[in-house]
Amino acid sequence: MSIHHIGIIMNGVTGRMGTNQHLIRSILAIRKQGGVKIKNNEIIMPEPVLVGRNEEKLKKLADTYGVTAISTDLEKTLKDPNYQIYFDSQTTNRRVNSVLQAINAGKAIYCEKPIADNLDDAVKLYQTAGKAGVKNGVVQDKLFLPGLLKYQELKRGSLLGRILSVRGEFGYWVFSGFNPAQPPQRPSWNYRKEDGGGIVLDMYCHWRYVLDNLFGGLKSVITYADTHLQERVDENGLAYSCSADDAAYSIFLTHENIVCQFNSSWTSRVRRDDLLTILVDGTEASAKIGLRKCWLQTSEKTPRFVWNPDVVNPIDFYENWEEVLPDKEYDNGFKSQWELFLKHVVLDEPFPWTLKEGAKGIQLAEKSWLSHERRSWVNLSALPD
Ligand SMILES: NC(=O)c1ccc[n+]([C@@H]2O[C@H](COP(=O)([O-])OP(=O)(O)OC[C@H]3O[C@@H](n4cnc5c(N)ncnc54)[C@H](O)[C@@H]3O)[C@@H](O)[C@H]2O)c1
Repeated sequence: MSIHHIGIIMNGVTGRMGTNQHLIRSILAIRKQGGVKIKNNEIIMPEPVLVGRNEEKLKKLADTYGVTAISTDLEKTLKDPNYQIYFDSQTTNRRVNSVLQAINAGKAIYCEKPIADNLDDAVKLYQTAGKAGVKNGVVQDKLFLPGLLKYQELKRGSLLGRILSVRGEFGYWVFSGFNPAQPPQRPSWNYRKEDGGGIVLDMYCHWRYVLDNLFGGLKSVITYADTHLQERVDENGLAYSCSADDAAYSIFLTHENIVCQFNSSWTSRVRRDDLLTILVDGTEASAKIGLRKCWLQTSEKTPRFVWNPDVVNPIDFYENWEEVLPDKEYDNGFKSQWELFLKHVVLDEPFPWTLKEGAKGIQLAEKSWLSHERRSWVNLSALPD
């Protein structure tokens, strides 16, 4: 058996995403399954070192999951040639400096989105990585969700006809923390702009790659964003004022004039199929995409509704929708993308989800803020090489 041992510096791994999605469900899951198989007798085995500022936390995490290497010294770890990949899931505002350091050390870069908290920095990151010739990638996990993968299978069959419009509903109620019985379920920095927070920066990075990949490139945007809850309670039980947007309402237009309307909110209670749902209306059929499921309503199955609020509607709105590939199982999306990145590093296989693609998400966030300020449509231009 030939084994490619690939060292990965994991920075920010004590956080929510770092621990759960990247360490446990991706890297350790890959190790547990015996690595990434590339040929009958050849595998890639990821070898993580957990990096952070708090040795005690790192040690606890490493002991819990049987990881042997930890370090509080990023600079020193970057000099170690046993580590080929630098991975970053720190808070967004810490990403740029650490990633630049890793590029200078010649490491391949893989990181969480947003890759930066402003477009200038994002462009600097992909241009620096390009000049240094290091392989690079950004997490675009929503593309690997079972619901979206099932939709992509449908689209291949062109069952929908011409796509007219897309409606995305994302979000759920994130508790403010004022009631101790209902503690907040997201870190407080998400609600402070100065710490890299805000739903536009966070979620529009996702909407950009989802829309670009599923419906063709975006050409313009109009947005209204708001901070509906002005005060929340932080991890230490102290009240703070929220400086970042917690809800945003946008229309995105693709080059083919598909209208994509998205509501994103951490201040909305859920009564729908899933925490993220995307309704795609086409001339021949409509599809409803959730995180894990996808449903289809064909032209023949479309009910003939008649408006009459004086009686209870006799038609069950959920009937006549057929579940797409109900039995198909997919691996964890973060893990699938990690496996592709490892193959990209070792075998040079294509990996289209680059830092430049990540920068497009930040462009969408910035243009959305501009649209909000100007109260008008804003166009998205091509990013520099
Ligand atoms: N792909 C997704 O769906 C998704 C979902 C949520 C968050 N994210 C992104 O992942 C990143 C992390 O988010 P999270 O929710 O895990 O946040 P978190 O607050 O739980 O974790 C942040 C990490 O950064 C580290 N960190 C913070 N300040 C530091 C400092 N001064 N020095 C050294 N380390 C420091 C923390 O120790 C921790 O390890 C963010 O950029 C966020 O936007 C992505």
